[in-house]
Order: sequence, then structure tokens, then C-alpha cells
Amino acid sequence: MPTSKEASSNDHDVETKVESGGVGLNNTGVIPIKRRGRLFIITGIVAAVVLVLALALGLGLGLGFKKKSSSNYVTTNSSFLLDPNFVITSTSTTRYYEFIVSETPGSPDGFERPMLVVNNQFPGPLIEVNSGDELVVNVINQLSNGTTIHWHGQLQNGTNYMDGTSGITQCPIPPGANFTYRFTINPNQYGTFWYHAHASTQYTDGIYGPLVIHSPSEPIYGQYDRDALVILSDWYHDMSSGLLAQYLGPAGIDGSNYGGYNPGAEPPPDSGLINGQMTGSSFDLEPNLRYRLRLINMGTLTQFMFSVDSHVLSVVEADGTSLEPVNVHRVPIHVAQRYSVILTTNQTAGSYNVRSEMQSTCYKLANPNLNTMVLSTMTYGASPSTPNTQDWSDALPALCLDLNNTMIVPQIAMNPPNSSETVQVSMSFQQTPQSGGTEILAFMNNTSWESDTTNPTILQMSKAGIQTAFDSNQLVVVNNNVTVVDLIVDNYDDASHPFHLHGHVFWMLGEGDGIYQPGLSQISTINPPRRDTLTIPGFGWVLIRFITDNPGLWAFHCHIGWHMAAGLLMQFASLPSEIQQFQIPSYLTEQCAQQSGGLIVN
Ligand code: C2O
Repeated sequence: MPTSKEASSNDHDVETKVESGGVGLNNTGVIPIKRRGRLFIITGIVAAVVLVLALALGLGLGLGFKKKSSSNYVTTNSSFLLDPNFVITSTSTTRYYEFIVSETPGSPDGFERPMLVVNNQFPGPLIEVNSGDELVVNVINQLSNGTTIHWHGQLQNGTNYMDGTSGITQCPIPPGANFTYRFTINPNQYGTFWYHAHASTQYTDGIYGPLVIHSPSEPIYGQYDRDALVILSDWYHDMSSGLLAQYLGPAGIDGSNYGGYNPGAEPPPDSGLINGQMTGSSFDLEPNLRYRLRLINMGTLTQFMFSVDSHVLSVVEADGTSLEPVNVHRVPIHVAQRYSVILTTNQTAGSYNVRSEMQSTCYKLANPNLNTMVLSTMTYGASPSTPNTQDWSDALPALCLDLNNTMIVPQIAMNPPNSSETVQVSMSFQQTPQSGGTEILAFMNNTSWESDTTNPTILQMSKAGIQTAFDSNQLVVVNNNVTVVDLIVDNYDDASHPFHLHGHVFWMLGEGDGIYQPGLSQISTINPPRRDTLTIPGFGWVLIRFITDNPGLWAFHCHIGWHMAAGLLMQFASLPSEIQQFQIPSYLTEQCAQQSGGLIVN
């Protein structure tokens, strides 16, 4: 992978560094903190004036903008091998990146559309670190809407305000402004992660990329010869903002309304991508080597079934936890999950199909034009040719579920402590009475989450402290002390849902059909899977266990972009007295003040 823009090592003061950026109307670069407030107002006024002009001139001005940026086009980040010269060490360092987030045209599947991207690359630049490193990413927002970047799976111990979750740990970064994320990678964390925009459904439009944490203490370190990225995603031809409006809009108003035909049915994607491409991506390998393939599902709706013809895959990592190797033909991977598999290039020299099959049986709406078999070519010991190889003959499962728990056995065994608290929540989709039953929203218990983009829950809690009463659209479970929580989720929807808990690695104790029945439902506390994203079966339950020892506001939500935007999110607020001690950077609170000043469009 091409490395991202990395500031020179003597440039420690990124926050006060002035950069000239690429394209963009609001290109104010990086602003010294002191001047930020005033410049935001100026930027805000400029943005407001431009918005009015744009509205007045309509399409004309729009075309003008496009012309201006036509020299910019999204570049596919097609190299997949990690740099073998990256030094894997337990000595920590600080690594700097600069992310310019912009709207740029691109055509990952041959269809040109505006994309939202980091540094004009898709997928976004690789972040590669060692455990214990400090990571500094200066995000410059050149979009016309606010944005945030979330570091999926990072524990953020003590730095919850760097979690990048709009409405929870920060306000959206205003257009033209920047936000410096600075945090330490947990010294005990390693494996395969990713980052993505965490404001509305923006990541669906392309703001995502891989984050790899190396460590000499990773149990599978040294058990492979090459290290490679395999990024899977589903892809839409329309901007997610428009699709979301249709998905959430009242039913039956116009023919293009998804809800109108099938209430609550998610827009099905138009294509699927491997490493940012629909066709033409290829893996040129060497014979007789062990490749670690890091599968990451950066999609919005789709579970993929990943396989390589004639090659058994040995699964060795799930969401950053090293596993006892288990051989499979196919790996099911739902949205936001990661698996590492070892593939050995020991078959006949030649080209083989790499398959990432979209599990469209789990969509509520079909897209007849969607080719669900996303293909790439893997070649070794020969020059690449069109593969003539056969898919495994095993039947595909009808339900979109995870690998069985018994196949996810952590190499470093750990039994969870006994729980001291049980939180039982239901998730469902319901018609909202306000709309006369035509609108469907998603609910955790009786709460449908809405992002509070002017007053994120972290600020509410850091000011008000322990007794905070949150709005009725924020379901927040507060723990004043370190507690071992059993979180039970009963799924009243027929579909399965990939849920992610921020800031924690949880134990996955059990799952089953129907509603969880204390004493009857089966759970196991013997070295259960540990991960950060799991699939809750349709009309089923899961029980996960975690420790509330990480102070902050942590989202627990369905990672299907449409569902989170429809409200399928709740929060855990741990250790409020420590939250009140947080050294929240002043630019975070200033950006919230800016939001509530009404100058920011989001
Ligand atoms: Cu991958 Cu709430 O995030």
C-alpha cells in the first residue's frame, strides 16, 4: 500500500502547522488553535455565502465546481502487500498522518459518481503502527458537511474524546476545519483494524481504510511469510445521503421510495468491491509461501462469503484476537468484522478465482442488476490468466451468521470473571406513531437514537457529571464503578445484525433462537471468543460480557449504516467521575459551539 502523507519526524507540532491542501472551497488548511474560533466564524460566513450563491446559481455553479476539480480523480489503492521492511518492535514511537477528506469523482466499479475520500485515495491510506505507538492523525475537512473519523476497535483508554463518534464523543468537524486525533495504541492490542467516517452514513461513500497494529507479542507473529490486505465492501451508485432520505422517508410518497414498497427495507447495493475494485484487482503472489490475508469488511449492508478456489484457508485472527488455527473453505464476514487467514501457495502454478460472494439472501430488497459474485484473480508461479477454477461445492448457509463460536478459540485463553450486572435490551424496527405508521425507525428498547451534533453525550456528562439525564433519544447505561456487565440483546427483527461495541473487547458467551431465558439459555464461560463486532441472529439472542473499566461514552450499535442512521444505537457511560477529569481539547468544545451557532450544515 502507498504510505499516507506522513509529516516529517521533526514536525511534532501538527496542530499549529499550516498546510496548503488540495482542492476545495473551504481550504483553510490547519489553523492554529488560538485563532480557530474567529476563523471558524469567517469560514462559516464564507461557507454560508457560498451556499446561498450555490443555491441561487443552481446547476451552473455546480458544473463550474466540477470543472475546477476535474483534474482530481480518486486513485485506487490497489497495492495489497504490506511493506516487509516495516520494523515490528515493542519500542514505541509517534506516527503522524494527514488526512484531507474531500468530495472527488471516482468510479470503483466503472460507474462514475462523486465519492467522499481520504487523500483522494480509495480505499483510504493504510495506517500501520506497532502496539504502544502514539498515533496522530490531523483530519482536514474539505467536505461541505461536518465529518468525524472513528478508529474502529481502538480501546482509547483515557482518550474517549478521540473515538471520533459524532454526537457521542465529539461534534462533527465543521467544513473547512481540522481536528487532530491523538491517542496511544493500547500496548496489548494488535491485529487488523480499520477507520471510517462516523457521521451519518458518510463512510458508505468511501471514507474508510485499514489500520494494522503489529506486535512481536502477537501469537501469530512470525507464522507467515507475507502480509496482505483484502478489503471487501459493497458499493452504491448514489450518494448515501439521498438513499438514506429515501430509506427513512415516509412510505408511498414516490415510486423510488424503498420504504414505500417494503417498509424498513434497506437500499440494496449496486456492486461489490475487492480492494476498491469490482474487476481487475489481482493478487500476484510467489509460490510456496504462507500469506496472511487480512480480510476486512468495510461495507454498509452486506455480509460476504470469502474463498479462494482450491485453497484451504486457516483462520488465525478475529477482530484483533489471535485464534487457534481452524481450516475452512469459506469465511463468512459481516460488516465491520475482520479475520486473518493463512493461505499457502502450494497448489499447481497458475491463476485462481478469489471470491467474495455477497450474501444477498439477507437483503430485504433484491437488486436484479447486482452481480453477487465479486471476483478477483490470484496467481503464482505463472503469468496471470483468466482462471478456470471451480468454487468449493459446500452449500452456502441461508442465514447470515458468524463462524460458529466453537471455531473462534483465542490462542491466549481467558475466562471472563463472573458478572455483577445484567443489562437486557431488545432491538426492533417499529412504525413511528408520529408518521401515522408510515415511517419505520430502529429501536433499542424504546429508544431510537438520534445524533446530537451540537451537544455530544461526552460533553453532557463531563459537565453535569453522574446524575445526567439524557434526552429521550439517547439510551445510556451509566456505570459509576468498575462492573462486569452481561449484556443480553434480544433481536425482534427477522434479519441478523452485526453489532459493534466501541472501546472494548467483549467475551461472546452465547447465542440462540428466540428470547434469552435466564437459566435455560446456554452460555459458555470457558475461553469464549473475544472480539469487538458480532452478528446477532435474526429472531435470536446474544449474551456478551465486558468490564466497564474504560472511562467514557461508548456506542454499541448495529454497523449496518442504514440501521445506525435509523437509530439502532445505545451507549454505555463508564466511570463518570473520571470522565469529568478528562482533558478534552479546547478545539473539540469550540467546534461544538460552532455547531450550535448554526453556521454548520450537517
Ligand atoms: Cu466501526 Cu461505531 O463503528
